[in-house]
Amino acid sequence: MTVATQSSTTQLSNSSQLRPITGLVNFLLSIKPLASFAKSRARKMMIDRAEAMGVYWRQEAAFLSEQNLEALRQKIENPALVYPDYYLTSFHAYEEGNLGWLPATEVEVAARAVHAKIWPEAKERGDRKLRDSFLDIVDRRIDQTQQPITAIVDLGCSVGLSTFRIHDRYPTAQMTGIDLSSYFLAVAMYRDAERQAERQAEPNTPDIRWIHAAAEATTLDDNCCDLVTLFLVCHELPAEASCDVFREARRILRSGGHLAIMEMNPKSEIYAQMPPYVFTLLKSTEPYLDSYFNLDLEQALIDAGFNPPTIDCNSPRHRTVIARAS
Ligand SMILES: C[S@@+](CC[C@H](N)C(=O)[O-])C[C@H]1O[C@@H](n2cnc3c(N)ncnc32)[C@H](O)[C@@H]1O
Repeated sequence: MTVATQSSTTQLSNSSQLRPITGLVNFLLSIKPLASFAKSRARKMMIDRAEAMGVYWRQEAAFLSEQNLEALRQKIENPALVYPDYYLTSFHAYEEGNLGWLPATEVEVAARAVHAKIWPEAKERGDRKLRDSFLDIVDRRIDQTQQPITAIVDLGCSVGLSTFRIHDRYPTAQMTGIDLSSYFLAVAMYRDAERQAERQAEPNTPDIRWIHAAAEATTLDDNCCDLVTLFLVCHELPAEASCDVFREARRILRSGGHLAIMEMNPKSEIYAQMPPYVFTLLKSTEPYLDSYFNLDLEQALIDAGFNPPTIDCNSPRHRTVIARAS
């Protein structure tokens, strides 16, 4: 499937059809107690809906919060790390953004609940299907006979959902997961230990390396990997930060290696048809969505030292963008 060419961004921002409602939503969101009330109602509805479809949100998050994750967090935390200002804000209706135990223990269930809506028939298997659809395209687009994938860096790895799926596809590659949240990385390390216990040391599968760092300053050596992945990260970055991350990806990639991005597709009909007030609500939980939707991704990749990318739709509302390091 190839990406449609019609730009939905302009439609989303300029549609006057529902402007009074959008204005009202913006006004209501600007009143703090009202916004908090709306968020807590929306949160309860989302959790109830998730549990009705078999994603046991409260139970699974409570289980994780009872594990000794703080010890793992302290082990991985880089105390010298300076967080970019754009990161220190609220995301996904969590006041603490990505830096806290509540968001960290809810990432997995939230991903399964949110992605259950992508393909109605997939239900709670939607998250897995989304990840597999991306990896199928990566497999198809990257010719490994020319340059085998021996080292992979997953930028913005969070609790490891993307990292583990990629690792399962390329089990002999050296896998590195990098994230700015030591809370998320602690959950990733906890899950990694579980996986290792299940696998019981397969000799050809190197351990995953986790690093607490910014994707735009990874601390990794030049030319150290063949594949860099960004799975649902760019929409959480201001456009300038995405450009910095692409430059860093180019620096750590060997020549001929690839950057593979899985993201929301601004050209999807789903966003074009979304009532603007719903988009406004979405933006209230995703502070850099507008910036991402307005970024010329192809040009930004070329400017960062990549060949023109291939772009494939991997879901009705996501695209996979793959660029070869020139
Ligand atoms: C929506 S999550 C996606 C996580 C994961 N890749 C997945 O597939 O589930 C975005 C992640 O990017 C991380 N992130 C955002 N900005 C970052 C940056 N500049 N450097 C490193 N990680 C970043 C966040 O902490 C969060 O874990």
